[in-house]
Amino acid sequence: MKVAVLGAAGGIGQPLSMILKNNLPAGSQLSLFDVAPFTPGVAKDLSHIPTDVCVEGFTGDDKQKALKDADVVVIPAGVARKPGMTRDDLFNINAGIIADLVKNCAKACPKACICIITNPVNSTVPIAAEVLKAEGVYDKHRLFGVSVLDVLRSETFLAEELGLSKQQMQVPVIGGHSGTTILPLLSQVINGDKIPQDRIEALTTRIQNAGTEVVEAKAGAGSATLSMATAGARFALKVVRGLLGEPGVSEYGYVEGDGKYAQFFAQRLVFGKNGWEKLMEIGKISEYEQKNLDECVSVLKGNIQKGIDFGKKWVAENK
Ligand code: LMR
Repeated sequence: MKVAVLGAAGGIGQPLSMILKNNLPAGSQLSLFDVAPFTPGVAKDLSHIPTDVCVEGFTGDDKQKALKDADVVVIPAGVARKPGMTRDDLFNINAGIIADLVKNCAKACPKACICIITNPVNSTVPIAAEVLKAEGVYDKHRLFGVSVLDVLRSETFLAEELGLSKQQMQVPVIGGHSGTTILPLLSQVINGDKIPQDRIEALTTRIQNAGTEVVEAKAGAGSATLSMATAGARFALKVVRGLLGEPGVSEYGYVEGDGKYAQFFAQRLVFGKNGWEKLMEIGKISEYEQKNLDECVSVLKGNIQKGIDFGKKWVAENK
């Protein structure tokens, strides 16, 4: 397996690359790219960790070299929120960054599974799809938005609420990765029926605002990096396991699925040798969750359209 990280020297990229160096299967290659000139130094640093994963670092004009024949590309590149900003406020800067990086992927590793962390994920994934379509290499089974941090946070908060071990919790989170599009299905959690409705609503709101909780706590120094790196690595490592043929590996991810709720939607995916192979149904949801789902879908559709419109314009202007 060759795994490339774009934005590898940043706040998410460095810990993400470290987790991958420590956990990719023996014999894998880890390829780091960032505009920061010290990226080869990050690779050198990681190369002293005794795992059988070979690591190289690239910067400047070497994007294509970094990406050449990658099986999986993880993209945390771009700018982060400051207090008072929504993820959508990052659109103007990050949309062009994603379009350019994904075009490079289309040329250097057209079959790679691309996992996008860069916000606003609800829109950057549709942008990537447009760019890949224009390059003639789009396969919806190989393009993902990483929304799994919402699952990690839900597991943490619910375990605290129920007094259970965080390792035991499993919480489905569907929809998108921003505000009310983040939809935790707490009615499906084991012992979830013991949580009173007012706590369900408070927990749902906390999960939806958890990214902002970190942005405010960091007071201008950015957004979640360490938990996001953990989430990105958990996702990418599962994609790798699927590509290697391990059966039954699954995780929540934001993809172009069957269009039942919105063109792009986060739900449980089962991975295989060709990316995601199966979408799991969202299952039975409560009346409260149904109301939230309606709101989620209407906001999400706007975010998706914004991404598609940008993607088409960018493609036309960057032939
Ligand atoms: C998060 O959920 O923490 C990330 O999407 C970063 C952000 O801006 O909230």
